[in-house]
Amino acid sequence: MLKEVTITILVDNLAREGLAVEHGFAVLVEAGGRKILFDTGQTGAVLGANADALGADLSGVEAMVLSHGHYDHTGGMPLALARAPGAAVWCHPGVFAPRWSVRDGQPREIGMPPAAREALTALPDGRLRRVTAPVPAVPGVWITGPVPRLDPFEDTGGPFFLDPGGTKPDLLPDDLSLWMETPEGTVVLTGCCHAGLMNTLMLVRNRTGGRPLRALFGGFHLVNAGDRRMARTLETLRTLNPALIVPCHCTGEAAVGVLQGAFGEKVTPGAAGGMMRF
Ligand SMILES: [Fe+2]
Ligand SMILES: [Fe+2]
Repeated sequence: MLKEVTITILVDNLAREGLAVEHGFAVLVEAGGRKILFDTGQTGAVLGANADALGADLSGVEAMVLSHGHYDHTGGMPLALARAPGAAVWCHPGVFAPRWSVRDGQPREIGMPPAAREALTALPDGRLRRVTAPVPAVPGVWITGPVPRLDPFEDTGGPFFLDPGGTKPDLLPDDLSLWMETPEGTVVLTGCCHAGLMNTLMLVRNRTGGRPLRALFGGFHLVNAGDRRMARTLETLRTLNPALIVPCHCTGEAAVGVLQGAFGEKVTPGAAGGMMRF
């Protein structure tokens, strides 16, 4: 059980005044006196500038966790490792897969940028931790590992493929999230949640013995969610009843509106510079 958890959004698709903005996501978690960086944004420039502007010292980060291998979560890795040269990096081995988004036959490369790939492969033995099952990155801060895809209405949320021709669907097996145990309940932090929000919350619920959900943060990737999936998502959230929902990054404007309509003031859209304490 963690006595105090602080979550600071460093990179997001929205930003408070004076901070840099990009399509990407990075969050600093301070838990029990330890620092964890969850994702690194698309460019180190935005991560570095916002960390400086917010006075967030990354040098003490001991664990970095990659939610998945997309460029907008991994691109800032060289800068992150330059600032925290001793950190271990936790990720699913699938983060290195080459991957594309293919819309109307037009492929766009969206995998991990080469510089991030090089930075990770250059890590000394033991500093790259492969996550294939739930595991704590530091005491009390758990990585889900791969999330079983049980809900029939959830999918990865986009036209994702392992080849530019768009013939091999990318199921994003590397997608993972974090959860933290606080006295008031569990705090869940997602990256893009390509595994699905309901699937992710079910895993966390099973692993935490059904403890109450205190807060839910992150990219929920509901941009392409159909009505049925959205309705089931709302139903799940009503049942779990978190006191705070912070949709960020790739949740989608329409989905944020639906969440606000359903949960009112419990929903606070995230932005770089946002900070919450538990
Ligand atoms: Fe993303
Ligand atoms: Fe993604």
